[in-house]
Amino acid sequence: MTDALFETAPDFDQPLAVLKHCHEKIKKQIKTMQRLLEHLPRHGANLEAQQAAKAVLAYFNKSAGMHHADEEEDLMPLLRQVAQGEDAAMLSQLLPKILREHKKMEAAWSVLALQLEDIASGESAQLSANDVQAFGELYAEHMVKEETWLAPMAMRLFSAEQMAALGAAMRMRRGLHQVSQDEAIELPPSRQDIEETQARLQLAAIRTDYTRQSMDESELDADPIRQFSVWFEQARAARVAEVNAMTVCSVDAQGRPSSRILLLKGFDHQGFTFFTNYHSRKGREWEHNPHAALSFFWHELERQVRIEGTIEKVSPELSDQYFNSRPLASRLSALASNQSEPVTDRGQMEARMQEISAQYMEQEPPRPAHWGGYLLRPRRIEFWQGRASRFHDRVEYELDGNGGWRRQRLQP
Ligand SMILES: Cc1cc2nc3c(=O)[nH]c(=O)nc-3n(C[C@H](O)[C@H](O)[C@H](O)COP(=O)(O)O)c2cc1C
Repeated sequence: MTDALFETAPDFDQPLAVLKHCHEKIKKQIKTMQRLLEHLPRHGANLEAQQAAKAVLAYFNKSAGMHHADEEEDLMPLLRQVAQGEDAAMLSQLLPKILREHKKMEAAWSVLALQLEDIASGESAQLSANDVQAFGELYAEHMVKEETWLAPMAMRLFSAEQMAALGAAMRMRRGLHQVSQDEAIELPPSRQDIEETQARLQLAAIRTDYTRQSMDESELDADPIRQFSVWFEQARAARVAEVNAMTVCSVDAQGRPSSRILLLKGFDHQGFTFFTNYHSRKGREWEHNPHAALSFFWHELERQVRIEGTIEKVSPELSDQYFNSRPLASRLSALASNQSEPVTDRGQMEARMQEISAQYMEQEPPRPAHWGGYLLRPRRIEFWQGRASRFHDRVEYELDGNGGWRRQRLQP
């Protein structure tokens, strides 16, 4: 038992201690994910697991982004300003690495966040040990670098005024403005007010930051999947609603297209995965014509991503794994619904649901063979960034036939 009732965080008049404290919190969240890896196979996505996933999501979606911004926008520029000679030479080597690592960690987080969101909502009990390990290793190595080189250099070089300026900038980022005694006559804002203001400021800053950006080819990743991962994470950080909702198109035997919204459940260098009913309209259409297209619209960031390629079913094992991780009601609903088929009325559907529920009172419902995942293997991916006067930026990646990607800019 500790003496303190609450864990106290250092104040912003000691900005380097605040940054170190953030590292401790990052380690704690990574430990929580490691504990989830042991917990989930035994207990599933129960209430405890959901709360743990929510806590990790809340931390990395919000505070970790601010921590990176503290370093990128305040600490590093100030270090560059004051460092000379050997210190300056070292920074010119180290800072680009640190920035690249931030991008890598943000991309690795986007993959984990998808899984944690499903756990938080009780939809799935799947958490990839490899993804957690890779994420933990990236951060561990990165934090050692910062604590060994950056923090001691800042401690050695910053004057008291510079340290105070760094702390003030970090405090401002969180919306915690200092007030003079004269101004402090009003009642202090409630904790909820502060949190709401912080969240609004942070969100506005993130959104303005990204929408202000032009899309310069030299800054885009040569690999469109990594680039997608960066944009996906930024959309999540900007709290885009239903960030993984996408329009999915199929084409019938006569060449007539149709589209609907589905949820993306994973992506990697193989492609983009989602789950549905293989006998549905889209499923039947893909039997005839495996070409498909996906598109995402992230309004808050004025961004669109379009993906085209061919569809194939994922392995039955992967479909089983995902199906079994879903809540019971969703599994029963997959069994009860002949998706896309006509039905007389809702009563008929409900009667069917009751029948299925009664059938599986005593046993786990099995995945129906006609329900499972699809993988869209991309052939073309386009990133679209809205710009002023409809003079938008568009960059298209296309497979080059040798396993690589060719890239070109398109007119708006
Ligand atoms: C936000 C949102 C998410 C959806 N996610 C899925 C999904 O992941 N899988 C699915 O089969 N249907 C999903 N649907 C329903 C589909 O849009 C569609 O109605 C259903 O798949 C039948 O499509 P089809 O008749 O064209 O085959 C979603 C709908 C919305 C609005």
